Amino acid sequence: MFCDNKKIIFFNEEAYQKLENYLLNHIDTIKNTFILVDYCTYIHCLPILFHHINFLEKSNIIQIKPGEKEKNIYTCIQIWKYLENFKANRNSLIINLGGGVITDIGGFVASVFKRGVRFINIPTTLLGMVDASIGYKTGINLESIKNEIGSFYCPEFLIIDPFFLKTLPEKEFISGMAEMFKHGLIADESFWIDMKKYQMNKDQNQWKNLIYQSILIKNKIVEKDPQEKGLRKILNFGHTIGHALESYFLDSKKETLLHGIAIAMGMIYESWISYKINGLSINDYQEIKSNLSRLYPIKKIYNSEFDQIFFIMEHDKKNDKNKIQFSLLKKIGICSYNCQVPYSLIKESFLQKK
Ligand SMILES: NC(=O)c1ccc[n+]([C@@H]2O[C@H](COP(=O)([O-])OP(=O)(O)OC[C@H]3O[C@@H](n4cnc5c(N)ncnc54)[C@H](O)[C@@H]3O)[C@@H](O)[C@H]2O)c1
Ligand SMILES: [Zn+2]
Repeated sequence: MFCDNKKIIFFNEEAYQKLENYLLNHIDTIKNTFILVDYCTYIHCLPILFHHINFLEKSNIIQIKPGEKEKNIYTCIQIWKYLENFKANRNSLIINLGGGVITDIGGFVASVFKRGVRFINIPTTLLGMVDASIGYKTGINLESIKNEIGSFYCPEFLIIDPFFLKTLPEKEFISGMAEMFKHGLIADESFWIDMKKYQMNKDQNQWKNLIYQSILIKNKIVEKDPQEKGLRKILNFGHTIGHALESYFLDSKKETLLHGIAIAMGMIYESWISYKINGLSINDYQEIKSNLSRLYPIKKIYNSEFDQIFFIMEHDKKNDKNKIQFSLLKKIGICSYNCQVPYSLIKESFLQKK
């Protein structure tokens, strides 16, 4: 199910106006509204939403615990039971107010509850704004396997309001920036340069515009290939290794590696592979490595840990005919997909020192 070329992303004041009009125009068909939050967004973000649209205060609030570990089927059951108990039906609306965990789980819950109810995403983290809420993918983890269960499901629309970021912890902010760097690396060299400049001078006036540009880059790719048959796969750059690292830490180390940090590490390793077999120049590789490693703490991965991480990669749902699929850079701003990489080179990328 896709969004029929309907405009669904709205920014700032216009977005709240859109939501208010939508609720008023659908007064006959929306019988009750549920707002999904976690503890942090309940405290920091819900008052902002109510400030903009005060009649939403009458909504049912569903609060879950924050964090990646909650993105599982047990939390879904808890939410479905709540929806059932409070008489949600096909005429209900779910508003997901939170980071990628809330929009992923809330979107998934909405996509299958009574075979699908309407939902709206209001991302409140940087990663949620520029990535997780864009592109119709919903999902939950199956134990430590990331996003193994999920669906493609369209929100009615989404609201992007960078004001929410004022309370976001810095480490979460930096985590979200990784996806923005990725958008530059895979599709737009000038955006990569703008992101590098921002990293140097932290010009806050530029920030909203960078978020806007980053969303446009992802959205353009998704619209060309909504079901990830081809081009959309370039968004997976850094994620073949990054997701395996994230799962490995969740499972073996029992500690969460923030998505953006895992992806930044993945982008460095996959840039090395790109240099070795996909024509990326050594200068581009070094530029990527030096910029990303300045911002992201690269965890040491020991030789003894590699096989377990490789095992996770072998079970990645993006694989085709049992082959691990990579998206690799040709140069900064241009990315190829469906690339196969030998085991030895993946291992080398983890250990390289250049
Ligand atoms: N569906 C997709 O296409 C897609 C793409 C990328 C990532 N994702 C998923 O997104 C998830 C990561 O998202 P995330 O990084 O936003 O993590 P998150 O949702 O866990 O949010 C991070 C933390 O910030 C808190 N928070 C949220 N907004 C806040 C605010 N405004 N002020 C203060 N605290 C706030 C949250 O409570 C949480 O503790 C992962 O599960 C990842 O798989 C999905
Ligand atoms: Zn990502």
